[in-house]
Amino acid sequence: MEPFLTHSVFTLDNELVLPAGTELSPDRIGEISCSAKTGKWLKLSRFDTIEKDILELISTSPYDSIFSRTKQIPLLLKSMAESEFSIQVLETLRYFKEMDYHTYCHQLMVFALSGIVARDLIPEHENIARLSMAGPVHDIGKICVPIEILKKETPLTIAERDLLDNHSAAGYVLMNYYGREPRCIGSVSARDHHERRDGSGKPTGRMLKNRLVEIIAVCDIYDALISPRPYRPISYDNRSAIEQLVEMADRGTISMDIVRIIVAHNRKERPCNIHCEISREKRGTIPQGNIYGVTAD
Ligand SMILES: [Fe+2]
Ligand SMILES: [Fe+2]
Repeated sequence: MEPFLTHSVFTLDNELVLPAGTELSPDRIGEISCSAKTGKWLKLSRFDTIEKDILELISTSPYDSIFSRTKQIPLLLKSMAESEFSIQVLETLRYFKEMDYHTYCHQLMVFALSGIVARDLIPEHENIARLSMAGPVHDIGKICVPIEILKKETPLTIAERDLLDNHSAAGYVLMNYYGREPRCIGSVSARDHHERRDGSGKPTGRMLKNRLVEIIAVCDIYDALISPRPYRPISYDNRSAIEQLVEMADRGTISMDIVRIIVAHNRKERPCNIHCEISREKRGTIPQGNIYGVTAD
């Protein structure tokens, strides 16, 4: 089953790319790729202050601990140096930096964390290079969601939730429109980062089998838990965020080996990642007043 657009996809210049109701079949996406509006391509590390911003973000808790091994940072910079994006894709990062700073930081950190998790789990250089091509743009489709909805602190209406949920399909369209191959990891991760390995995700409920995309999906959940969000007064503490990931892995929603790597990177002694022991003891504090998933009507 292919996703379809519940809402139209527009560029930042308000140009209609595809109307609401379009099914994103391989043929339709192929047409979008062929009409690609690619401008100048730039290395990620050369655009605005992305490199500086990532380095700042990884020096704040809990990422400072995760990235404290010095070899992680050169790896990250190397990934960035290898990845090039069309200027239109990079401009979406500038848009988020100005309009919704949390979404900007979230995309950078999912990119950074995915890089180190992928290195441990899928060490082949080719795969890391492919991951770097996903870059910090998995939520690019959120340019089609009004900023008031992205920043809303009270429950979303069903209509607003539908518009927000459309961001993964919209991101798939945009990544293809801006010149990526449909099967490129950047396009697929934009489309599938809310799908789950047991088929319980969105938008299609397809079983997520692509390991690189699943790494992005799990890092996406982790960062969403530990970072500020408009729908709750405080973030999950790191312990409770990890407990949430372990619970999801125990249910089969996400892969335990990916969670195990994140747990290992959070341990001071950093045991061999693949064999890191997982505790089921509940010691975290789940934040009160979380309205995620609550609808207003
Ligand atoms: Fe997303
Ligand atoms: Fe995300």
